[in-house]
Amino acid sequence: MKTALITGVTGQDGSFLSEFLLEKGYDVHGIIRRSSVDFRERIAHLEGRPHFHLHYADLSDSMSIVKVVSSVRPDEIYNLAAQSHVQVSFDSPEFTADVDATGVLRVLEAVRAAGLAGTCRIYQASTSELYGKVEEVPQNENTPFHPYSPYAVAKLYGFWIVKEYREAYDMFCCSGILFNHESERRGETFVTRKITLAAARIVQGLQEKLYLGNLSSLRDWGYAKDYVECMWLILQQETPEDFVIATGVQHSVREFAYLAFKEVGIELKFEGEGADEKGVCVSGPDNLVGKILIEVSPDFYRPTDVVNLWGDPTKAKAKLGWNPGKTTFEQLVKIMVQHDMAKVAGEGAAAKVRTNLAEYLEKGIVK
Ligand code: NAP
Ligand code: GDD
Repeated sequence: MKTALITGVTGQDGSFLSEFLLEKGYDVHGIIRRSSVDFRERIAHLEGRPHFHLHYADLSDSMSIVKVVSSVRPDEIYNLAAQSHVQVSFDSPEFTADVDATGVLRVLEAVRAAGLAGTCRIYQASTSELYGKVEEVPQNENTPFHPYSPYAVAKLYGFWIVKEYREAYDMFCCSGILFNHESERRGETFVTRKITLAAARIVQGLQEKLYLGNLSSLRDWGYAKDYVECMWLILQQETPEDFVIATGVQHSVREFAYLAFKEVGIELKFEGEGADEKGVCVSGPDNLVGKILIEVSPDFYRPTDVVNLWGDPTKAKAKLGWNPGKTTFEQLVKIMVQHDMAKVAGEGAAAKVRTNLAEYLEKGIVK
């Protein structure tokens, strides 16, 4: 039985990867951080399983990483932990650098300190954000990097230090340069999930409007569940190499929003330009027709924004057997919207019970 250690196990990718590796028969260890709300929603269903173990550690705390790596002695490490929100990296650049850049170095050094440099394979969660202010479209493994946020600059260090340790110490460490991948487990402040939740809330009468930033930004969006398989495949190769993982298809934020709202029965028409652009309901539930449901707010603009990400997955197709079309853009939007329609319906029902209960308590109907 192989042993894997996942940093960032509570995140979107960490939770899917845990399921994938458990299914493959791995003993899976994950590191978690102490939080005042001990609510590990994405991995709650795995806790208590015989081959799923959790350890407290933090990528900003070298000793905690050294301790976990030395005691678990993994065959494979998946370093997914990061401050992963690009906009937040402008507000917390130093923290982002500590975790997303130096944190990678801490993992590599912990492996060396534990005497595992010759046996432990390491996957580094690298990103299409490295291409940033893109110098070529679409982007492949040879496209020059031009990071365009504190997050991307930190991740660039992670990419290069992994390459350095591969060359200097002959370690099997690789970067997956993954383009955006989303799911029903995506954090709620990333644009796709923000849109699918808002569409569900608006059609169910729980939200009036959705405020977004740059609607014209272009992304290559895939399904996270498909992408974790590539992380594993990258570590099963004979030689350590870096790979671009993407669908090869590009859409705008506007298109994502149009499709998500269509999925809940609302047809939008976009009018105006830039900060004045609005998404108006042209057909759908009577109470919404004619209303402005999407507006642009400068609050969601970034000091520098990456606007043209489009991946070329040719190498991954050829060497990993990666099928970039496994889940289409349309299917991805559907999966996310259907999940959020049910989630919001549940929230609505719970809120109604709370309101009724408050009313009954007030009237003395229940005590
Ligand atoms: P995510 O949902 O934001 O998860 C991030 C994970 O990192 C969480 O488990 C978080 O723990 C953990 N973490 C943050 N700071 C930490 C620290 N100091 N010490 C230990 N753990 C820490 O991100 P994701 O979407 O799953 O992405 C996984 C990785 O892939 C990230 O490195 C991200 O930058 C990279 N990436 C993502 C995409 C994408 O489109 N999703 C694309 C390219 C690259 P808490 O739960 O305690 O916060
Ligand atoms: N978050 C957010 N919120 N983004 C918005 C909004 C909004 O209200 N309105 C427009 N956008 C635009 C952003 O300006 C950006 O151009 C695009 O939508 C995507 O933003 P995010 O969903 O926040 O993702 P990201 O592309 O910045 O970063 C994600 O993908 C990277 C890979 O390319 C994260 O998962 C990173 O960790 C990952 O490395």
